[in-house]
Amino acid sequence: MANSQFVPACIMFIANIVIVNIGAAIGGWPNGHATFYGGACGYADTNKQGYRVETTAQSSALFNNGQTCGACFERIQTNGIWLHVAEKGTGPLVLLLHGFPEIWYAWRHQIEYLAENGYHVVAPDLRGYGDSDAPLNHNSYTIFHIVGDLIGLLDHFGQQQAYVVGHDWGAVAGWNLSLFRPDRVIGLVNLSVPYFPRSPTTKTTEAIRQIFGEGSHVIQFQEPGRAEKAFARYDCMTVMKKFLLVTNNLIAPPDMELIDYLETQSSLPAWLTEEDIRVFDKKFEESGFTGPLNYYRAMDLTWELLAPWQGSKIMVPMKFMIGDNDPGFKSGGTSEFVQGDEFRSLVPDLEVVIVGGHHFIQQENPQEVSSQILSFLRTTKVTATNLCPPSKNASANWCNPPSKHFDLSQPMFLKIAKFAAARIVPIHFQRVPCFKRGGIKFYLGVRPNFLLVLVDNVGGAGEVVDVKVKGLSTGWIQMTRNWGQNWQTGGGLEGKNH
Ligand SMILES: *[C@@H]1O[C@H](CO)[C@@H](O)[C@H](O)[C@H]1NC(C)=O
Ligand SMILES: *[C@@H]1O[C@H](CO)[C@@H](O)[C@H](O)[C@H]1NC(C)=O
Ligand SMILES: *[C@@H]1O[C@H](CO)[C@@H](O)[C@H](O)[C@H]1NC(C)=O
Repeated sequence: MANSQFVPACIMFIANIVIVNIGAAIGGWPNGHATFYGGACGYADTNKQGYRVETTAQSSALFNNGQTCGACFERIQTNGIWLHVAEKGTGPLVLLLHGFPEIWYAWRHQIEYLAENGYHVVAPDLRGYGDSDAPLNHNSYTIFHIVGDLIGLLDHFGQQQAYVVGHDWGAVAGWNLSLFRPDRVIGLVNLSVPYFPRSPTTKTTEAIRQIFGEGSHVIQFQEPGRAEKAFARYDCMTVMKKFLLVTNNLIAPPDMELIDYLETQSSLPAWLTEEDIRVFDKKFEESGFTGPLNYYRAMDLTWELLAPWQGSKIMVPMKFMIGDNDPGFKSGGTSEFVQGDEFRSLVPDLEVVIVGGHHFIQQENPQEVSSQILSFLRTTKVTATNLCPPSKNASANWCNPPSKHFDLSQPMFLKIAKFAAARIVPIHFQRVPCFKRGGIKFYLGVRPNFLLVLVDNVGGAGEVVDVKVKGLSTGWIQMTRNWGQNWQTGGGLEGKNH
């Protein structure tokens, strides 16, 4: 396999595996249960801390008859809990991650639009929300838990990689997913909340207190029960209206609860109907606000745990959108930040788009946001994105890092992408450590009938001499082409380069 463009260093294997998993299981609810505080909207009675209601989640059946966006619903076991997801379409997987205080329904327009345009769209109720499980302890809401849930979803759908679109807290989850597991993210679209680098010295809540003061929603949401109690003075419909139609900054004056400070709009805008709000209302009435508020309560723990990622950049391709009238855009230096150099240096492959709208732009301005997402999905190919080390020489053929990803536009890769997209066969990518010479052992726990070996040119290690692979029941087989070869192995697989 001598080819001057291939130099031994990183080897990436793509195995094409004959397990067919077409379509998703529809109907038949797994027997999960949700756990939450009972009471009025968001109310956790502090005298009864720990009071739990358990219920079988089934109310989304409401939308199963092709109403709304015609999505199907499923509950999926992941990371020790059950997540409820809305799902539609076939094609490359796109995860749509909602924010606070929403559920999958925030994406109703995009679910339909992206499914029509050839994508397999999955919009979960994140942990703590809607019909997903809601662990009681706020320490179960660190970003590591949330990202772990998402990895489990990708695994469930047999996908190594997905596009990720996040809004608000969903964007935070998308950022962190891209940070921890760039190998699982093809590209990230982020709405409304930019990535501010972690402070090495100051806890998140302290930093927020310093900038926005005690009245910041983040600060008010810290104490368990406080916000729940304040919200409970209103019916859930009103609470939802206050948040979904927010035009103020989420910073209350001294001695005032945020929810009292937020205005209640007397009339609804064209983009949000009474019926839409009722969908949210129903879910929050059932499951309360404690789960969603727990995200805020875990922020400092997340900050502590994120120390190992201090200074890390986001290496996946990224489009960031924010509403020009988002209260968060004009405050705290966000506008300058997202359009400035620092943001770009943290996220090298970044495109920033300012769209018309406030905070919930995917609902307020669905056409614009949907088509921006689609254009991103179309130009960010199904590739082995992010498998390139950032340090790689930019003039090399296969990677154009640090800001670009593999452009695997060769017919071979397109075919594999197509197989993956149509879920004819799941495609598994595996990256193994860099070695100049000597064998690399790797095992595929499934029965592959196709293996793709990409030898990535890192650091000019020298020419490839040969690449051989070995099945458990075969001898070593010389790879004869520089990007793949069919052969039969009876079981596990072992790879080697010299
Ligand atoms: C990860 O999540 C935390 C919030 O829990 C956030 O502060 C941080 O900015 C996120 N990381 C990235 C890279 O966005
Ligand atoms: C995406 O949003 C999250 C928070 O919602 C933020 O931490 C992250 O920085 C955003 N990414 C970009 C590129 O703006
Ligand atoms: C990158 O590779 C090219 C061609 O192999 C070489 O001429 C150039 O010096 C390399 N640059 C760096 C920074 O290594």
